[in-house]
Amino acid sequence: MHKISIAIDGPAGAGKSTLAKKIANLKNLLYIDTGAMYRAVTLKLLRENVPLDNYELVKRVLDNTIIEIINGSIFLDNVNVDKEIRTPKVNENVSKVAALPFVRETLVKLQRKIADKNNVVMDGRDIGTKVLPNAEYKFFITASIEERARRRYEELKKNGYHCSFNDIVKKIAERDKMDSERKLDPLKKADDAVIIDTTNKNIDEVINIILGKIESIK
Ligand code: DC
Repeated sequence: MHKISIAIDGPAGAGKSTLAKKIANLKNLLYIDTGAMYRAVTLKLLRENVPLDNYELVKRVLDNTIIEIINGSIFLDNVNVDKEIRTPKVNENVSKVAALPFVRETLVKLQRKIADKNNVVMDGRDIGTKVLPNAEYKFFITASIEERARRRYEELKKNGYHCSFNDIVKKIAERDKMDSERKLDPLKKADDAVIIDTTNKNIDEVINIILGKIESIK
């Protein structure tokens, strides 16, 4: 049977995952956080001290790694790593890992396989452009860099990490640059995506905009 897919892309901290989770709940779709998959791979490579320029080793480790999303949680080799993938150390390294061609190839394949079998809301950077170019609905979520940094700051604080706000602005700017300037599947709005700036909107306002566009999903 034909599966429905909604692609939600945009830069870090724009609110994609909060929105995607809510939409998935409201419409009974499976929520797939593809950023969590890149983070889980990063965690594994960091744990195993794999030099990122060692293609053979990255490939060998990845070939022996199981990444799964079960009930909205991310599992690395059968262990829940929801918390471990959100540490500053993973934040600092994930863009480099996400730029590795073999990592992208492996995760894109896995993401397509999931979308083949399920009705999904998938959030990431390249969902509308690369992973699911034929998705029924595509959204590109943005917000000003200060607002995105503020949200990331609150998230880190909630999880017990203390960072300077200015540092986060700097790091997000660096991450934006790396994600949008990398050669392979850069962060980019798909031509047919609806763009939503969430800077001065609360979650419910944005949800209502999205619901208005996907009315046909019952
Ligand atoms: O959304 P996030 O901050 O959890 O994403 C973590 C990193 O993974 C970010 O640097 C961009 C990258 N990423 C990607 O390249 N492609 C995706 N589909 C999702 C995330």
